[in-house]
Amino acid sequence: MSGQQLAQLIYLLSAVLFIVGLKRLTRVRTARAGNALAAVAMLLAVVGALVEYQIVSFQWLLVGVVSGGLIGGVAAMRVPMTKMPEMVAIFNGFGGAASAVVAASVLWAEVIEKAGSQSATVAEHLTTAGQNGGASAVTLALSIFIGGVTLSGSFVAYLKLAGRIPGRPLMLPLRHFINAALVIGAVVTSGCLAFDVTATAEMAKLCMILAGASIVLGVLLVIPIGGADMPVVISLLNSYSGVAASATGFVIGNNVLIISGAMVGAAGLILTKIMCVAMNRSLANVIFGGFGSDDSSAGGGGGEYENVTSCGVEEAVMILESATSMIVVPGYGLAVAQAQHAVREMADLMEKNGCNVRYAIHPVAGRMPGHMNVLLAEADIPYEQLVEMEAINPDFPTTDVALVIGANDVVNPAALDDKTSPIYGMPILEVHHAQTVFVVKRGLGAGFAGVKNVLFERDNTMMVYGDAKKVLQGLTTELKDSLGS
Ligand code: TAP
Repeated sequence: MSGQQLAQLIYLLSAVLFIVGLKRLTRVRTARAGNALAAVAMLLAVVGALVEYQIVSFQWLLVGVVSGGLIGGVAAMRVPMTKMPEMVAIFNGFGGAASAVVAASVLWAEVIEKAGSQSATVAEHLTTAGQNGGASAVTLALSIFIGGVTLSGSFVAYLKLAGRIPGRPLMLPLRHFINAALVIGAVVTSGCLAFDVTATAEMAKLCMILAGASIVLGVLLVIPIGGADMPVVISLLNSYSGVAASATGFVIGNNVLIISGAMVGAAGLILTKIMCVAMNRSLANVIFGGFGSDDSSAGGGGGEYENVTSCGVEEAVMILESATSMIVVPGYGLAVAQAQHAVREMADLMEKNGCNVRYAIHPVAGRMPGHMNVLLAEADIPYEQLVEMEAINPDFPTTDVALVIGANDVVNPAALDDKTSPIYGMPILEVHHAQTVFVVKRGLGAGFAGVKNVLFERDNTMMVYGDAKKVLQGLTTELKDSLGS
């Protein structure tokens, strides 16, 4: 078997593992194995490239694999769950940059360096190199363009999420006009680069202009989007990084890059759609809406409250000990407090006391898709007890206790009946229909959307103030005392 054949076989195996890995990531139970399979697929793709090109120096590759693996590994181990969206944003940015750099290196190595005195366009050079020159030249420009947008857009998203620049939308005057001009400029530059200029110095210049325009465009596209919409933007940029990688795959004729890039592109787009549906927003509204620019949705207090009832853990336990059904609603505050083990311990006690305990999962609870599932899985809470929003909503009217822990927007009834609310139309967990609602949070602070939560003023709601972990530990201690266990 020749080196080429062996490389193609390795690529095929890698592509299959990527597909199976992605499939496994769709279920909490199999997600870890899916992630591991995808990592093996990545390693195989690197090995395949080594076998195929044979020109890559092993020393440099070793330096790359070891240093990259070390940085990635340490970063992944150190990052707290609440900072995961920032990390994903940075990874997306590097993905886009890698695609752009590979495409630019093809322009350098295959065209500029080999051109000599020959007067030909990039497309003609690539045809001479045995490729479908026109298509390769177009995908080369596309890789640089999308890669550049992904790089700068992802870093702006990271800076907003990390609070290093203000999260509020920065609406520049004439921004649509400037963006349109940049896109048109990039298309014209790409056309000239691929099919017009023949002087290598001109090619290098156009490549720089294209990269520069795409980087500026990435910044301008993300700056006007509010911090509240960053997870959707990150998912969309993730999709872009996949498209850039796929385009690069066409440039260098690498099947596994085409397949894996297309998968990332499609998966990112599907995820973006799921998030938009769960927030009842259109993608256009997220991208052009400037959500979070007015004071009502700028975070902070979220409005004045009247007639809010609160209670301590002792009073709460008096109701909890006689409850026969309880639905726990986890939210972002549960992640902040790292209260997943404490909730499990408390729920175990409730079950021992004959209470049917389930967990209601809102699709955008927390700060990233699947945030609550991952958190609860960490505490070994059985998957069967996790119920999706549509399935559990009809059960609230017949439930004794809804225990809302660090969740806010996802249980706000204003989304159902207040047409003036910024979150009007967002599907929510209808906890207000339960017999008694306990809301565990530190105060009356607003959630991600920065709006007042009318649930806190309902007659059947009782606030239990405090850090989620401490409150849950207090409830557990009181329950143990009162149940004599
Ligand atoms: P939020 O509405 O953000 O509310 C979280 C609440 O947790 C806050 O009101 C805060 O109140 C409380 N909290 C913070 N630290 C706490 C602690 N240590 N102990 C107890 N409580 C604490 O959370 P949610 O209900 O999960 O909703 C998620 C929001 O994120 C939605 O608006 C959603 O649209 C948005 N979003 C999510 C995603 C994804 S994919 N998940 C994507 C885009 C947008 P106090 O300060 O009073 O304690």
